[in-house]
Amino acid sequence: MCGIIGYTPAQTDPNILDVLLDGLSGLEYRGYDSAGVAIADSSLSVYKRNGELSELEAAVPDRPVNGQAGIGHTRWSTHGPPTDENAHPHTDCNGSVAVVHNGIIENYRDLREELEAAGHEFESETDTEVVPHLIETSLEQGADAETAFRRAVDRLEGNFAVAAVCSDIEGVLAARHRSPLVLGIGDDGYHLASDVPAFLDHTDRVVYLQDGQFAKICPSGIEITDESGAVVDMPVKTVEWDPEEAGKSGYDHYMRKEINEQPRAIRNCLRGRLSEIDRAVSIDEIDDLERPERVQLISCGTSYHASLYAARLFRDRGIPASAFHASEYDADAIPIDDETLVIAVTQSGETADTLGALRDANRWGAETLAVTNVVGSSVSREADHAMYIRAGPEISVAATKTFASQQAALAMLSSALTGECSRGFVEDLRALPDQIQSILDRSRAEEVARDYIDSDAYFFIGRGYGAPVALEGALKMKEITYKHAEGFPAGELKHGPLALVSERTPVFAIISGASNQEKMIGNVEEVASRKAPVIAVTDSPAAVEHHVDDLLRIPETRPQLLPILANVQLQLVSYWVANQLGRSIDKPRNLAKSVTVE
Ligand code: F6R
Repeated sequence: MCGIIGYTPAQTDPNILDVLLDGLSGLEYRGYDSAGVAIADSSLSVYKRNGELSELEAAVPDRPVNGQAGIGHTRWSTHGPPTDENAHPHTDCNGSVAVVHNGIIENYRDLREELEAAGHEFESETDTEVVPHLIETSLEQGADAETAFRRAVDRLEGNFAVAAVCSDIEGVLAARHRSPLVLGIGDDGYHLASDVPAFLDHTDRVVYLQDGQFAKICPSGIEITDESGAVVDMPVKTVEWDPEEAGKSGYDHYMRKEINEQPRAIRNCLRGRLSEIDRAVSIDEIDDLERPERVQLISCGTSYHASLYAARLFRDRGIPASAFHASEYDADAIPIDDETLVIAVTQSGETADTLGALRDANRWGAETLAVTNVVGSSVSREADHAMYIRAGPEISVAATKTFASQQAALAMLSSALTGECSRGFVEDLRALPDQIQSILDRSRAEEVARDYIDSDAYFFIGRGYGAPVALEGALKMKEITYKHAEGFPAGELKHGPLALVSERTPVFAIISGASNQEKMIGNVEEVASRKAPVIAVTDSPAAVEHHVDDLLRIPETRPQLLPILANVQLQLVSYWVANQLGRSIDKPRNLAKSVTVE
């Protein structure tokens, strides 16, 4: 949800523009409505364009641009539609200060009124533009640039990460308040960004800024200060992701690459956490967590579907558990105490709704745990404990490998916390990577997608552990194909959705050979008798093939792990429908990967 970057080379760099554009391409998943950069040398040069990054790339000078510091932005619009004027960076009246921002400045209307009354002229409809004008005001009053920046940030309310360059100082100034910001320490210079893929080609040594901290990066180094201005010593961490993982590696789309990376992602997630000899799961990060009285899971979108899956697992193992949409979680209206474990499930660790719900749970005294992909993310820092899903960087807006890894992580977590584990369960978990690989090698999803490409809508049904993955199948389909898609617990069909079923609405039915099979076949008959084509995603083809039109096979497994396999087939179907329709698969319209506004 908007990505910001900053870079200051060790010495004036004629390639600074390329470094900034590369950095933005690593963050484009955070928003792609418009993009822009500002480069500071003896004066400021600002280039910005409505549209995807390629529009900006076409608009910048085709020659080296010298600079001692630069900032950049890729936008997911909140205040003001995507236009050249609303694209960041925004500047002051003199064009000597440029600012990029991620988040929302809640009091921008009041600030803008005040600044306009003082004679400042605005060019955009954004909340961000108040920041360069506030800086300008202090500069005119004689403050130095750092003081002016700090004073401006002090006036802002809301969630934000901001970065600024000024023509009269060296380096980039930045501040973090409830939106992510990470610094990169490279041999070629210093970087800052909303997320590490922006500079992973340059360095894997990072410092995660905390809320309330300010940073200055300049050729001689990094300085981090707190709200009072005191210098803070922050730990330098090494990121485990490699640049190759974050690139497209020859695939047409990140989504395809990330679907294909699922065997490796699950292997990483399981690594060191399973013991067949002891028939046990042990997760170092949560060693000190005891069996809770009850579990509440808070999350959004795909992560919510992983939470629905996990809630069922916990319940089956004897712990009352419920999944909540984070945006609807109301800790003071839901029974919660220190015996309650609240699990925030979020791949990015930055989703504002999830962070808000986590803060509620913390305030109400629950024990809290983050299950996330991003080390050092806000959710991982604010929860009492953090467990990492280790999926590696996910760039495509549609979550794929992180969903699989969330499910695997939560399956292990439910086992570790309840102590319920069998050798068979451990063996079946360990079999997942090879089973997923066999699906990837043999899937008929492309053919199925072609056969049903002209459909009016796509429906997905499942029961028990199959129900959350039916919801996820539909979410993925609508997200990247823009087609109408709905997922239902199969039993709900006859309570309304059946009215929509026709020969033009294929139904994908997730059928386990070991659980609810008869009931699912009954539901399949219901839709088949309304002429809907039925495609079974199943580990028991022999039992269902004469009831359905098509099969997407998955290896046999226990019902608790079936969703992780079934989902791979559903991801591929959505991918191929979107591909055949020529959609913007990695960057679907109106969406962004990390949703840092409520
Ligand atoms: C869908 C998708 C979103 C996210 C949701 C939560 O493919 O990616 O629905 O799952 O925005 O994001 P995280 O997991 O980062 O909290």
